[in-house]
Amino acid sequence: MLVRRAISVLVVAVCLLHRAGAQDDDGSCPADGSGSSPSCRRGGEGARGGAPASRPPAPVEPKAGPQADLITQEVEELKSIIALSQERIKLLSELQETLKSGHQLPLPEAHARVLQEKVPLLSEVAANVERVPVAASDDFLVSKAVISSDEEVSFVKFMTLRSPRSAAASSSAPATSVLPTALLVAASSDGQVRLFTPAGELALVFSAGHEKPVTQIAVSPSFEEYLLATGDAAGVIRVHKVSVRQRRLTREERQSRKNSTDEKVSQHLGSNVNVTAALHKHMQVEADDGEVPTVTSLALASHSGSKYVLAGDAAGKISVFTRNGTLRGRIDTLATQGSVVDGLFSSPGAVLFRAGSDWGFVDMEKLEARHMECPHFEGRITTAVLDSQMSSRVLAADEAGTVWVFNVRNRKECRVELRFAPGSTQAPVELSSVRGFAIAVERAGSPQQPVSVVALNMSQAGKAKGGGTSAKGSEGVPAPPPGAVVWRRARPPVRAWTVHKRSKEGDLLAFLSEDGKEIEIVELLMQAVFTAPVTDTMGNFKMPVIAVAIVLVLGYQYMKQKGKPAFGGKGGKFDLGGSDLASALRTKKKLTGLRGGKRF
Ligand SMILES: *[C@@H]1O[C@H](CO)[C@@H](O)[C@H](O)[C@H]1NC(C)=O
Ligand SMILES: *[C@@H]1O[C@H](CO)[C@@H](O)[C@H](O)[C@H]1NC(C)=O
Ligand SMILES: *[C@@H]1O[C@H](CO)[C@@H](O)[C@H](O)[C@H]1NC(C)=O
Ligand SMILES: *[C@@H]1O[C@H](CO)[C@@H](O)[C@H](O)[C@H]1NC(C)=O
Repeated sequence: MLVRRAISVLVVAVCLLHRAGAQDDDGSCPADGSGSSPSCRRGGEGARGGAPASRPPAPVEPKAGPQADLITQEVEELKSIIALSQERIKLLSELQETLKSGHQLPLPEAHARVLQEKVPLLSEVAANVERVPVAASDDFLVSKAVISSDEEVSFVKFMTLRSPRSAAASSSAPATSVLPTALLVAASSDGQVRLFTPAGELALVFSAGHEKPVTQIAVSPSFEEYLLATGDAAGVIRVHKVSVRQRRLTREERQSRKNSTDEKVSQHLGSNVNVTAALHKHMQVEADDGEVPTVTSLALASHSGSKYVLAGDAAGKISVFTRNGTLRGRIDTLATQGSVVDGLFSSPGAVLFRAGSDWGFVDMEKLEARHMECPHFEGRITTAVLDSQMSSRVLAADEAGTVWVFNVRNRKECRVELRFAPGSTQAPVELSSVRGFAIAVERAGSPQQPVSVVALNMSQAGKAKGGGTSAKGSEGVPAPPPGAVVWRRARPPVRAWTVHKRSKEGDLLAFLSEDGKEIEIVELLMQAVFTAPVTDTMGNFKMPVIAVAIVLVLGYQYMKQKGKPAFGGKGGKFDLGGSDLASALRTKKKLTGLRGGKRF
């Protein structure tokens, strides 16, 4: 199917080129009126003949003249395409042999090199069409701020603040109280923590007070209280409480703001937030025998009104601390021997864990781990996050980089709700969920590897055919949705990234560069400005088309060169610069015209 589309696009492209050549030819015919007469006389007709897809609608003329039914005509067209292709194959094999033999190259060496260079298999480029985004990332991503720092930052995380709207509504705060919707936490391994506003302004610097290198950070998923937890290599966890207030203005500032009629201006008049942090609690992770296991993941969770600190460790267990710092229990995830708890993900509704290839939910009530098995899922989960809208929906990526969407009813029955086409994202994949979309970072965490950020359209989740309960008999996995990759943006290697979901504005993404010295905050406009993608089928085949164009230009230069003596040409030197594609094609056309008497 794909290949056929590719071929038809190529044929059309080639035929259009031919038409260009033909028109050119028409102009040159009267000049000598000799040779190539078939193509000369029937130039116009021939040009039209080759392009089934670009043929103008047949005029309904009752005129006399040769007539044939549509099928016959189409068969004729196809036959001539076959003939052209055979001719072309012959010429190209000739060219290939000449290139291989190496001597008496009719082409400049550089051109010969281009033709012989190894490139990725074009069939694969075309076959991997699922990877091709339906839209351009520039339509969705707006860079908001770039924060450079001399100090090396190791972790970034958005801390969600109470939305200013609801704050203004709940309290009778004056309309001028405009606080940011989030703070970006940037922590260094030496325990230095910086808090930035989404505009990139530094709001606070403090030390988390660790003696050992910080290895994990976590922020509270709810916004009644802003907690930041940092964990270090010695199993020490320090929880800081962050307070965000409107900055008290000096008299002059207040005066000038009073004068300002534009409210929007006031929020950009310097930093108007007063951010403070105070140590809330200090806790220590210890194994049952008193040993200190390595903390491998950290999360803050809330359950029935209480706050908890969860620390996954290298022994495959999760320590659960209450907010006052006492250990409530240590959950054995019962994961495969030797698995470390390398992922803890908490949302206001649930906590997800991942240990080796095992994953599931943490039952905060009974303090136990609930493993999930999804029928029809094959492979090994490398990342799992909860959907931003539905806490029963889990987004996961497997070792191959394929993204899956699971629906877990009652945190017991797992069902594959959606599977994106294998190959549409490249492993290792990290995931985040925003409304209606999954944001994936491909090739994440590979040193010095550029990554790409991808948006996957989630709107087919739960809708896809075969995903329902009736799917028992079939494979159980819904067909991958077409056109699921909305956009893809390449980025330099990233050390860490984070997403902040906002309801009324675009979501925010932050990327920490691999050297830890630069953070870029990008606004994601998925809902606001989406315009239906232009159905540009050529876009999918740019690479093959370009490659074919190279072969056409250089190959037919060669043909032209070879053909010259046949036309009593000047022989002489070869000059690519002086002749364009059209003339190359024209020569080619004469050549075929002479050889085969074809109409092309
Ligand atoms: C910030 O808040 C703290 C604590 O309420 C207060 O002491 C300090 O004066 C405030 N700073 C500014 C600039 O408003
Ligand atoms: C604000 O307006 C008052 C009068 O309405 C004026 O005296 C004052 O200079 C103005 N201040 C600024 C900063 O424009
Ligand atoms: C900590 O909180 C738990 C309940 O959440 C309570 O039972 C315990 O006494 C508290 N400990 C301290 C030291 O306050
Ligand atoms: C997502 O997919 C749905 C249909 O499945 C489509 O209507 C919508 O336009 C897509 N959104 C984007 C941003 O491509």
